[in-house]
Amino acid sequence: MMNYKITIHHTQDIQIPFYSNKHISILDAIEQSKIQIEFQCRSSFCGICRVILCKGKVRYFCKPIAFIDKNEILTCSCYPITNIDIIYHIINV
Ligand code: FES
Repeated sequence: MMNYKITIHHTQDIQIPFYSNKHISILDAIEQSKIQIEFQCRSSFCGICRVILCKGKVRYFCKPIAFIDKNEILTCSCYPITNIDIIYHIINV
């Protein structure tokens, strides 16, 4: 079991845990922390769940289909392999 810390940079930084035995994706960990995040397809197609990855590394389940910039990740389709820092427009905390 691997545990990592996800830091979300917003007006104030929020830290949430990622437990490999409990969470499938970064999106899953964010949702379970009661933070509302935008998503649609949950399969790397639409790109709605993209965030900026400031620090750390992630691994994808499969190659992303949606267009993303070099510093962006699709939270529905990857999981952290280190502690990560992301920038995301939070709907509601
Ligand atoms: S929800 Fe569509 S790409 Fe992540």
